[in-house]
Amino acid sequence: MEGECDRYILISYNKAMNWKDKYNKIKMTGDEAVKLIKDGDTVVLGHAMGEPQELVEALSKNYQDYKDVEIVQMVPFTGELAKEKYEGHFIYNSLFAGGSTRKAVQDGFAEFTPVFFHEVPKLFREKLIDVNVAMIMVTPPDEHGYCSFGVSIDYTRPAAQEADIVIAQVNKYMPRTLGNSMIHINEIDAIVESHHKLPELQPPKIGDIEKKIGEYCASLIKDEAVLQLGIGAIPDAVLTFLGDKKNLALHTEMFSDGVIDLIENGVINNSKKSYMPNLSVSTFLMGTQRLYDFVDNNPSIYMASVDFVNNPAVISKNRRITSLNSAIQVDLTGQVVAGTMGHKIFSGVGGQVDFVRGAAMANEGVSIIAFPSTASKGKISKIVPDITAGSMVTTTNHDVDYIVTEFGIAKMRGKTLKKRAEALINIAHPDFRDELIAAYESRYNCKFPR
Ligand code: COA
Repeated sequence: MEGECDRYILISYNKAMNWKDKYNKIKMTGDEAVKLIKDGDTVVLGHAMGEPQELVEALSKNYQDYKDVEIVQMVPFTGELAKEKYEGHFIYNSLFAGGSTRKAVQDGFAEFTPVFFHEVPKLFREKLIDVNVAMIMVTPPDEHGYCSFGVSIDYTRPAAQEADIVIAQVNKYMPRTLGNSMIHINEIDAIVESHHKLPELQPPKIGDIEKKIGEYCASLIKDEAVLQLGIGAIPDAVLTFLGDKKNLALHTEMFSDGVIDLIENGVINNSKKSYMPNLSVSTFLMGTQRLYDFVDNNPSIYMASVDFVNNPAVISKNRRITSLNSAIQVDLTGQVVAGTMGHKIFSGVGGQVDFVRGAAMANEGVSIIAFPSTASKGKISKIVPDITAGSMVTTTNHDVDYIVTEFGIAKMRGKTLKKRAEALINIAHPDFRDELIAAYESRYNCKFPR
């Protein structure tokens, strides 16, 4: 496949010999497998719906046997190893906080490393994070000895490629996704068979505000657009307004159930894609069993590592790539905060900037940051004169393109600071416009054009 580097080409055939003997030799219990981890090791843990829960359980059960083991993870599922009770035994290094780890990160029991999602594998390769052990979850092997990483290829596969030791939970319920998504038994050091259905992410509830935002975003999506959709109510709301579009495509960090109907009724068909046509490209998946069944052995879904899928240079090969992401706060210059609330870490940068930049580089690319105009039941405006002190800018005002709320669309790219502020005030919630106008008038020493 054009664009994928040599190191990702599947291992040579002779290495695939005698894999069944190897499988039986390295099959063990979770308790036995985690004994391969030594004090001071760095363990990269599979994430989101691909978190190897059996291995996490084994580590947590035996935690007193370990000293200063660093656990590196992106989207947490159980969050178990970030708990305060493991202090001195495990140091949890979060690359993206979620509901189950946010408090630990905010309270200082867990560490946080800012990193663009597509650059995580580079941290491993350059040994800035030196992967001693990769703990992953995969499908059972096929007749050639290859296991699929299933719902989570992203940084998990690169971690396994860099690790000294690979411990794999084999789960028959993991869907067998295709693409560049495999690992051979001969590349694994310990197998723990443990079968459980994958956790499900239910489709979000879409309210009137999300519908309005969805409608505005859909108006920016052209026929033949290649979509990147984040997670949550807004991307799902957008999808409900795309029924009349033609020949849409997917090149996205992740996707959920929301796209299945559009694929099944031919709206998303990848037929006019300029790069990797006829394939929906993604690096991880979160959804319900319906999604997991849909992607299982589905050759139209191409899953690959995040340094490929989220690489802005790769993204930019997609004509009309249209990215859709969200924000916590946007200031009047168009600086977007998506991962922090002041000094408090809320999530992380994830793949937002990867796609914003990829879209900016692409032919006819569009990037949209969409969010409800207020938070905390209408008490807080998300559009503010200045971002809260301590917050980290996610998308800079040099990169930002469209901002959308339930009150409309504000184009930032190519606009002066003054014009940006005017456009943003016009899509802020009316309850907060007076204070934004006061900030505008004092900053630019002129009357706000009404
Ligand atoms: N001030 C105070 N609280 C705020 C706030 C603000 N400016 N903005 C949001 N919040 C609160 C909300 O009220 C809500 O609280 P609640 O759960 O108690 O109701 C909570 O924070 C979540 O806000 P919401 O707007 O519902 O967030 P979301 O689930 O739509 O996620 C991001 C928005 C920005 C946090 C999320 O998209 C993200 O983490 N983005 C960064 C990574 C990324 O973009 N990846 C893209 C590829 S998938």
